[in-house]
Amino acid sequence: MGKVAIYPGSFDPITYGHIDIVERALEIFDKVIIAIAENTEKRPLFSVEERLQMVRTLFKDAPNVLADSFKGLLVNYVAKTNAKVILRGLRATSDFEYEFHMASMNRSLNTHLDTLFMMTSKDYFFVSSRTIKEVTKLGGGVEGLVPDLVARRLKEKFKLPITKKRQISWDD
Ligand code: PNS
Repeated sequence: MGKVAIYPGSFDPITYGHIDIVERALEIFDKVIIAIAENTEKRPLFSVEERLQMVRTLFKDAPNVLADSFKGLLVNYVAKTNAKVILRGLRATSDFEYEFHMASMNRSLNTHLDTLFMMTSKDYFFVSSRTIKEVTKLGGGVEGLVPDLVARRLKEKFKLPITKKRQISWDD
């Protein structure tokens, strides 16, 4: 069966910060399940289906990465799988309080589960789905911070022009 980690979150949308955590977790776990929460307090930009589709496309060549969605309590979802570990990425110190709170609550709800934190790589510690959305909406570039597919989907959502890689022409 092997070791399985559940990586929960909103993934609205998935960024290279998330992908980096998944890739590094695969060095420790045999399987990582990206679990998209359906009912967070946040009003998502992308529907659960859209988020699932993006994640599945990005990991189509990685058979040990699965994408799923869940409603209700995370611990109840995890209990239905054979995973014992909830995986979360930690960026700067500001994430700590929220994450500590959530991990403690989850542990109090189910003492058989543990939360494992991985530090985000230095290249992505400032990347969040929230700022990616804001920057794109306001016309800023997010190349290198999210996969091209995600950058395109964001532009479609915000009805921004999707620019092809610039062709050099002697006429302009
Ligand atoms: O990417 P996010 O938005 O930081 O992820 C937060 C998430 C989805 C992991 C958290 O809100 C969650 O687990 N929601 C499911 C409902 C639940 O179990 N709430 C109690 C957690 S203390």
